[in-house]
Amino acid sequence: MRIAPNLLFRSSLLKMALHPAQDAGKLICKSSWNSINPTIQSPPETPPLTSPADTDILTVAPANDKTNSQADQYAKGALSLDELDPKSPFTQFHTWFTAAQQNGVHQPETVCLSTASLPSGRVSARMVYLKELDSRGFVVYSNFGTSKKAKDIENNKWASLTFWWREMERQVRVEGLVERMGSEESQVYYDTRIRGSRIGAWASKQSQVLEGREQLEGWVKDVEERFEGQEEIPIPEFWGGLRIKPETVEFWQGRESRLHDRFQYTRLEDGGWKIERLSP
Ligand SMILES: Cc1cc2nc3c(=O)[nH]c(=O)nc-3n(C[C@H](O)[C@H](O)[C@H](O)COP(=O)(O)O)c2cc1C
Repeated sequence: MRIAPNLLFRSSLLKMALHPAQDAGKLICKSSWNSINPTIQSPPETPPLTSPADTDILTVAPANDKTNSQADQYAKGALSLDELDPKSPFTQFHTWFTAAQQNGVHQPETVCLSTASLPSGRVSARMVYLKELDSRGFVVYSNFGTSKKAKDIENNKWASLTFWWREMERQVRVEGLVERMGSEESQVYYDTRIRGSRIGAWASKQSQVLEGREQLEGWVKDVEERFEGQEEIPIPEFWGGLRIKPETVEFWQGRESRLHDRFQYTRLEDGGWKIERLSP
């Protein structure tokens, strides 16, 4: 199965807290939050922050209490087992992705890709764009020469994808093993990119330290000269598709009082899928 319309289916001493501060001595705390414009980083009567101590909390997310109830009162829908495709999380994802496209979700293909380095176990995450989905897995495109994700997956093939579709109050989590796609297969997508992006893939030593912007622009100039007058550009050997082949896929629908509906598909040895409801 290959489904393809559009994308698819083809210094700091600062400390942040994402919970209400418990200590009234903190710069911002729950009791003062509602009188503060959330865009302002410190209460009006607080002296300017020049050198905050390590323990000072500078920002607290809006309190999730009765006085700030609009922020996360999930009420858009519900999810039950009989709505899910019993056979495949891929077609289920396609259904949800299409719904996200049709319901005004901004760039539903935007997804957080997490990888981990071994033996340290150190995790890193970054946003990428999902470009394809078929019955083998979820495909993103990236640099495989110099990026952190490239280094991580050299030794650890486990990765995860996390989608958040706010307008529909839906999250999808994918965990699985990754494989690099071949250059022939990757070239098909590469050819659809505008010329500047094709040149950029060649020019960037992704995630390496630059001496300055001029250095990058110099490399771009070099690549432009190399391919001058040439419409078809071969894909760099260090660039291409990464397929995340899921072992689990979870569909999450926000519900009131945080009693969300969650269903997880788990791949079985015979190639089928088991679906289980998870506690929120
Ligand atoms: C919305 C968004 C989409 C992105 N899409 C991609 C992508 O598809 N591929 C990619 O390599 N980097 C993409 N990036 C840049 C990555 O987040 C990241 O900076 C880059 O891949 C290097 O990460 P790494 O060194 O951790 O591997 C995107 C960034 C944003 C904010």
